[in-house]
Amino acid sequence: MRTYTTNATLRAALNDLRSKGQSIAFVPTMGNLHEGHLQLVRCARKRCDVVVVSIFVNPLQFGANEDLDAYPRTLAADKEKLFSEGVQVLFTPGVEDIYPEGMHTHTQVQVPDISETLCGSSRPGHFNGVTTVVNKLFNIVQPDLAVFGEKDFQQLSIVRKMVSDLCMPVQIVGVATARDEDGLAKSSRNGYLSPEQRRIAPIIHQTLTTCREAIACGFDNFLQLESHARMQLLQAGLEPDYFTIRDARTLRAVSEETEEIAILAAARLGNTRLIDNVRLAVN
Ligand code: PAJ
Repeated sequence: MRTYTTNATLRAALNDLRSKGQSIAFVPTMGNLHEGHLQLVRCARKRCDVVVVSIFVNPLQFGANEDLDAYPRTLAADKEKLFSEGVQVLFTPGVEDIYPEGMHTHTQVQVPDISETLCGSSRPGHFNGVTTVVNKLFNIVQPDLAVFGEKDFQQLSIVRKMVSDLCMPVQIVGVATARDEDGLAKSSRNGYLSPEQRRIAPIIHQTLTTCREAIACGFDNFLQLESHARMQLLQAGLEPDYFTIRDARTLRAVSEETEEIAILAAARLGNTRLIDNVRLAVN
């Protein structure tokens, strides 16, 4: 596995591989890699000759009071995991490589509407930070295909829309959420939880699956399901940010045209913000 820390050296190496006819899959991450990230890597490996993984904790997607400084940085352990998975190329740029003239004088990419709802309303500017860095990384890596996790379902939907709206020549592949045995979605932020909070956290997934079962059984009073679920989260000691039933494609309210429903939740447990979602087909 070769590690590159600057745009120029990475580009030169990838141009070389591309000229030899090798296809390139890209997995962007912020590091502190767990099984969820590794499933994306495995998916990428199956589909292309070369897998490029980036590790970059993107300051532009963190709000002023968020965990940018505390975000876990575990590069040595991450490198070992990627090497064991057969990743050929690791890209670990510095902030000065990605934002050489400073973050706030930098051109930004904004996907309207879908970026402003759900996590976008409680984390203003977050998704502009995500789409800006993903766009930039796509231009540096120029992958044939890029892999994202369904755990961050809104992020995946926004990236798909950006790629479609801007006619970007990259195929986006979504991978199912990796979970602990008790259902908690794996996340770098789970490490912030105390043992007591870790015991409570799987309730988010339980509430989502209970809601999915109710809809599958024909229960269609969504407002009641949503408020019941929020109550369950509150009673368990979580502070729900949202628990909502949406159209999985647009993330707007469910309508006659909805083919798939997404149930999405975000909740705080102490200082940690957890998100999760489940989906079901409309028949
Ligand atoms: P990060 O949180 O490191 O996640 C990197 C990728 O791993 C994302 O596509 C995310 O959805 C996926 N992922 C995380 N946990 C997962 C799980 N339990 N199961 C499946 N996939 C999972 O998301 C980001 O970084 C950043 O916003 C980024 C896209 C890199 C832009 O900075």
